[in-house]
Amino acid sequence: MTDFKQLSRRQFLQYSAASAAIAMAGTSMWAFASPSFVPDVELKLTATQTSVALFSGKKTKVFSYQGKIIKGPQSALQNIPDSYLGPVIRVRTGQKVRIHFVNQLPQESIIHWHGLHIPEKMDGHPRYAVAPGKSYVYEFEVKNRAGTYWFHPHPHEKTGKQVYAGLAGLFIVSDSEEQALHLPSGKYDIPLVIQDRRFDRSNQLVYLNNMMERMMGFKGDNILVNGRPDFTLPVETRPYRLRLLNGSNSRIYKLAWSDNTPFSVIGTDGGLVEQVIKRQTLTLAPAERIELWVDFSNRKKGAEVVLKALPFNDGSPMSGGMMGRGMMGQGMMGSKPSEKNHALTIFKARVVKKIKHSETVPSKLTKLHKLQLADASNAKSPRRFDLTMRNMKWGINQRTFSMNKVEKDEIVKLNDTEVWEFRNVESMGMMGMRGAMPHPIHIHGLQFQIIGRENKAKNNTAWQDLKSGYVDQGWKDTMLVMPGEHVKLLLKFEDYKGQFLYHCHNLEHEDMGMMRNYLVR
Ligand code: C2O
Ligand code: CU
Ligand code: CU
Repeated sequence: MTDFKQLSRRQFLQYSAASAAIAMAGTSMWAFASPSFVPDVELKLTATQTSVALFSGKKTKVFSYQGKIIKGPQSALQNIPDSYLGPVIRVRTGQKVRIHFVNQLPQESIIHWHGLHIPEKMDGHPRYAVAPGKSYVYEFEVKNRAGTYWFHPHPHEKTGKQVYAGLAGLFIVSDSEEQALHLPSGKYDIPLVIQDRRFDRSNQLVYLNNMMERMMGFKGDNILVNGRPDFTLPVETRPYRLRLLNGSNSRIYKLAWSDNTPFSVIGTDGGLVEQVIKRQTLTLAPAERIELWVDFSNRKKGAEVVLKALPFNDGSPMSGGMMGRGMMGQGMMGSKPSEKNHALTIFKARVVKKIKHSETVPSKLTKLHKLQLADASNAKSPRRFDLTMRNMKWGINQRTFSMNKVEKDEIVKLNDTEVWEFRNVESMGMMGMRGAMPHPIHIHGLQFQIIGRENKAKNNTAWQDLKSGYVDQGWKDTMLVMPGEHVKLLLKFEDYKGQFLYHCHNLEHEDMGMMRNYLVR
C-alpha cells in the first residue's frame, strides 16, 4: 500500500511536468497516434458527465461514453438512444482500429477492452489512467474471432464507481466464418446489457453506502437493460440473435424464460460454440456474455415472454447459505429481504408483428481449436490461485493489488500453454464469518478454455442452485467460481509480452484489491 502511494505521487509529479510541456503541442503525452499505423476505423470516445431521462421527473446524472466516427463506415458505431451506455462498436477481425479516449470526467480514468487480445499498452491497465482533461490513444489490430466483447473503465479503486455511473459499451466483432452462417443480423441481432441500479427519490443513482456493500459487492433493486428501466423488446415471429452481457457490478443472474422455454446457447464470451447448447436456466456472472438463438415464430401477435432472474442461494454468508441471517442484518446488504424469494424481471419480449419466416439454427456453428492439457508446460502441476480473505480484504493467494508488482509465481513464458486452477477456499473472514463468496474471475489479454470443475465443500447448496446453468464451452475470459469450487483452465500466452491483469470482476472486490498482475515474458 505505502509503496503504491509513493509511486503514484512520483508518477504524478513526472506526469504533470511532462503534460505541461505537451499541452503546448496540443496533444496528449500518454500515447500518440503513430503515423505508420493506418486505421480502418478511427473513433473518438469521450467520457463525460451528463444526465438522462430514465424516469418521469428529474433526470438522472450519469457518466457516459459519447462516441464519434472519425474514419470508417457509419456502421462501426451505433449509439443507443436515450441511454447512458456507450455506443456499440462493430468491427471485423483483421481491422485496424484507432480510438481516441478523451477524459472529461472530474477524475482519472482509462478504457479497458474486455476480452480483446491486444498489446499491454492498449489494454487499459490502471497505471495508464489519464487525469481529467487528458486523453489516451489506442491503436490495435482486432485479432479476436467474432464475438461479443465490451469496454469499460479500469482506474484503480474507481472501476466499480465509474461503471456503475454509466461507463460501459459493447465491442462486437464479426468475421467471415461467422458471416457465412447467416445468423440473424441487423435489427434481428440484439445486444442486451443487463445491469442493476439503485435510485433515490429524486432519481439519482445511489452507490455504496457501507462497509458491507464493499465486502459483498453492490446490488441494485432496479434492473436496467441497455441503460433503460422496464425494458420491452418488440419482436416479430422469427428467430433472433440475442447477445447478453451481465454488466452489473456484482449481481449474478440465474436466468429463465417465464414460460420455461429452454435456452439455445450459440456463443459465450469469446464467440460461437461448436453447436447449440440447451439449458433450462443460465448462470450469468458479472462480465460474462452469452449469445442466444431465440425463435419467436410460434408465438401469437401480442404474446409476451419475460426473461426472469430467479432467486437462488448465492452462497455468501449473508444470503443464508452459510450463516443464515447474520448479525449484520439484511438491511446492510442493501437488498430488500423480499428479493430472496422473488424473481426479478430482466425484460419483456412482446410480439408486435406476425411474419412468415422460418429458419433453423445451423447444426454446426464452428470448429473450435481446442487447447490440449498435454501441451501445457505445467500439465501435472497447475498454477494455483486461491481466492482468499485476509485482514478484511479479498485477495488472490493472500495478496492484493499493487500497481507494478508481479511475484515469481505470476510470471509466464510467451508461447507457453499452461493450466491454471482457481480455488474458492474458505478462509476465516471478518468477525468470524467464513470468507467464501462467489467470485467471477477474469483474465486480461486472452481467451481461455475451462477444462474442469469440482466442488467438494460440504455445504454447497449455492453451487447446486447455479451449476446447471453454467456454460463452460467455447472461449472464455470470465468464469464464476462458487464457494468451495475448484476450476481448471487452459491458457496460451501468445503474441504479446507484458503485464496483464487477472482479477475478480465483482467490481467492489476488484476495487478493494482482489486483482493482480501477471507477466508474459
Ligand atoms: Cu472487464 Cu479487468 O475487466
Ligand atoms: Cu478485461
Ligand atoms: Cu470476488
